[in-house]
Amino acid sequence: MITTCCIGSVKIPRTAILAPMAGVADRAYRLLCREYGAAAAVSEMVSVKGLCYGDKASAQLCTITENEHPMGLQLFGSEPDFVARAAAMVQQFQPDWLDINMGCPVHKVVATGAGSALMKDIPLAQEIVRAAVRESRVPVTVKFRLGWDASCCNAVEFAQAMEDAGAAAIAVHGRTKEQLYSGKADWNAIRQVKQSVTIPVIGNGDVRTAADCLAMYEQTGCDLVMVGRGSYGNPFVFREIEAVISGEAYRQPTLEQRMETMLYHIRLILQCNPQKPPEIAIREARKHAAWYMNGLYGAAKFRARCYHLGSYAEAEMLAADFLALQKQRADFLPDKAL
Ligand SMILES: Cc1cc2nc3c(=O)[nH]c(=O)nc-3n(C[C@H](O)[C@H](O)[C@H](O)COP(=O)(O)O)c2cc1C
Repeated sequence: MITTCCIGSVKIPRTAILAPMAGVADRAYRLLCREYGAAAAVSEMVSVKGLCYGDKASAQLCTITENEHPMGLQLFGSEPDFVARAAAMVQQFQPDWLDINMGCPVHKVVATGAGSALMKDIPLAQEIVRAAVRESRVPVTVKFRLGWDASCCNAVEFAQAMEDAGAAAIAVHGRTKEQLYSGKADWNAIRQVKQSVTIPVIGNGDVRTAADCLAMYEQTGCDLVMVGRGSYGNPFVFREIEAVISGEAYRQPTLEQRMETMLYHIRLILQCNPQKPPEIAIREARKHAAWYMNGLYGAAKFRARCYHLGSYAEAEMLAADFLALQKQRADFLPDKAL
């Protein structure tokens, strides 16, 4: 049975939500994942300074369409003043909640004192959360990692400080800043965080299947699970999670369904970028097209074609050729399941 988790007064089914991913989880991706069962989504991170200085691209990242709700808007910054102003400003976009990024390990972000650098300055991180809470009509959450590095894993202390500062929930990625994306996410550490606070904890890191999602709930006791890279070329993972949690039978998509979804995703990308000529907008689709083929027979050969996609018609041909290759192989190896 699917229960719910509350971020403030926002009720979210306890299946899995889509992680914020700059350069990947844009509007088309969020719409697709929501349609395939993601319980909610979070925007790509948006610079508070960009917003305060009137940068149009930053404001554009904050726009939310009807089918994306419930959705969190993620802000990053290191100065409470700017965070407060940005938090007030983005209320017009009617997010369901605001999330503050305190986990980003990217040098450009950390060098400004934002992202995971805030894990090294708990009083400043608290000031930032208080500033956002003061200016926001919607709940404020914080997403962070286990700490800076192996010698400074302060996620429990940090989580408690975020709760004290007024965070309505926290999302924890089970790696340190130094690890970036290497090694395995430490779910035991997420469990320790969960046991140390009373606000909902969103577990994150290395959930790629419904079985992983169930294991994350069970091993960490978390209130909600967040999926990032596991949805690359695989929005089906959300349907699988939903089905397994509600005790329904689930069938993996066929190759035809994978290719249909890839084409649907590309159409969404084109629709969501009406200001760009299609030959430019299609570039956004290239990495996604390659991800839909990952792990399948002949994917390596097709990767180059994916990275040179120039039009929707080419994408249709690509899908047809890919399916034809799979069929040839099936005819050659009739007893092998694809
Ligand atoms: C390409 C990419 C972009 C990301 N961008 C963001 C971001 O904007 N904000 C954020 O909090 N985390 C960001 N992350 C981290 C993810 O939200 C997530 O914490 C991480 O990928 C671990 O989860 P996963 O194993 O399910 O992918 C990003 C990760 C990737 C791979």
